[in-house]
Amino acid sequence: MSVVRLDHLTKVFPGGTAAVDDLSLTTADGEFLVLVGPSGCGKSTVLRMIAGLEEATSGDVYIDRERVTDWAPKERDIAMVFQNYALYPHMTVRQNMGFALRLRHVETARARRQVAETANLLGLRDLLDRKPKALSGGQRQRVAMGRAMVRRPRVFLLDEPLSNLDAKLRVSMRAELARLHQRYRVTTVYVTHDQIEAMTLGDRIAVLDQGRLQQIGTPDQLYRAPANRFVAGFMGSPSMNFATVTPSRGEPVTVTLGGVELEIPDALRRWPGLRAHLGSPVVMGLRPAAITLAGAASGSAVEVVPLGVEALGDEKHLLFEAPGEGTAGDRTDAGELPVTVDDPQGGRLWTAKVAQDADLAIGRPVRLALDLGAAYFFDAGSGLAVPEAGAGDEPGAGPPSPGMGPDDPRARAVTAAEW
Ligand SMILES: Nc1ncnc2c1ncn2[C@@H]1O[C@H](COP(=O)(O)OP(=O)(O)OP(=O)(O)O)[C@@H](O)[C@H]1O
Ligand SMILES: [Mg+2]
Repeated sequence: MSVVRLDHLTKVFPGGTAAVDDLSLTTADGEFLVLVGPSGCGKSTVLRMIAGLEEATSGDVYIDRERVTDWAPKERDIAMVFQNYALYPHMTVRQNMGFALRLRHVETARARRQVAETANLLGLRDLLDRKPKALSGGQRQRVAMGRAMVRRPRVFLLDEPLSNLDAKLRVSMRAELARLHQRYRVTTVYVTHDQIEAMTLGDRIAVLDQGRLQQIGTPDQLYRAPANRFVAGFMGSPSMNFATVTPSRGEPVTVTLGGVELEIPDALRRWPGLRAHLGSPVVMGLRPAAITLAGAASGSAVEVVPLGVEALGDEKHLLFEAPGEGTAGDRTDAGELPVTVDDPQGGRLWTAKVAQDADLAIGRPVRLALDLGAAYFFDAGSGLAVPEAGAGDEPGAGPPSPGMGPDDPRARAVTAAEW
């Protein structure tokens, strides 16, 4: 069991890019911490600095109170599984797994026992005498994991270990990893750019962007109380929809979207900070599930024209042009819409998650109800969230949240600034 602490860790590569910028965080003992962020945000560089494979420009790495910044990789008692887990092709599974032990002169009987135990655990027992080329992708992946686990390291570092697997295998390996972690509780730092992997595996998730920590917290904290627009857009699938709106002065507070004036229920009590934004632009975020098809009688529906309809079996995704402050299709705020992370169209598209039997056709207008009670608000300049007040203190104070109680995470999201 071990604790990893990064203290103002920074890496500037020759040429000047700060791949990792003043990163401070501490794992809990036995924690599964996921580092997530878009390609190039510095995830692998962080792992490589923890492992000692990359020298820090400044800042320190501690493992269990010991400053290991200047220690060689092999002194750190860390095992790392790389994105492209190269196995030794000429060695059998048994030899691949035992190699690290041999290097460390672990006594033969003990090494054999450890390899056998780990192989059992990973379901590799019957494959021990095969060579990598006679294994499936998933089996090779398990050998790579086994090779790292066999040493019983203090800390596990995994860099996108599932990225080479097909979708189905990823899901089963994900479950496998969770099970192994439950059992051994080895402190793990796991890198991925896949937010579903992050949400399902992480005790906590640290979100990085451009080398900087954006927020660290439980999956629920990040989802329910994102510290800023970046985190809001990154966590959740499909991504949160964003639009620039101008909340009206006076109560009830309304915003206009697609030419329709919509009330933000209980706005100033829910988001006291919104008072400072009345009459000026603020970024509103709405998750795809907060948009439903409006009944014919609904007076406050926004009409949109479907640009795409994706049937996913048990639900449908409806894609449409982001409604602006003018009438539907009016690009009054062209250029102002923030870009959502996943959206190849650059933020011009919104997505609604609707029922699988919804009758939709591309080009045929539909009316949508937007649940602004489930909205998020962000400062149009800084992107910082306008926090929701006392969420969880009073029943009905926030969007429905199963299990909401005194520990409600929305009340205590940790922002990058606090770290
Ligand atoms: N050896 C290097 N020399 C110069 N720049 C580097 C080097 N290694 C990484 N970088 C740069 O540092 C930044 C962070 O790279 P890193 O590999 O840590 O990103 P990542 O988050 O792991 O991305 P991915 O998800 O694509 O693996 C990138 O801009 C990358 O181009
Ligand atoms: Mg990487």
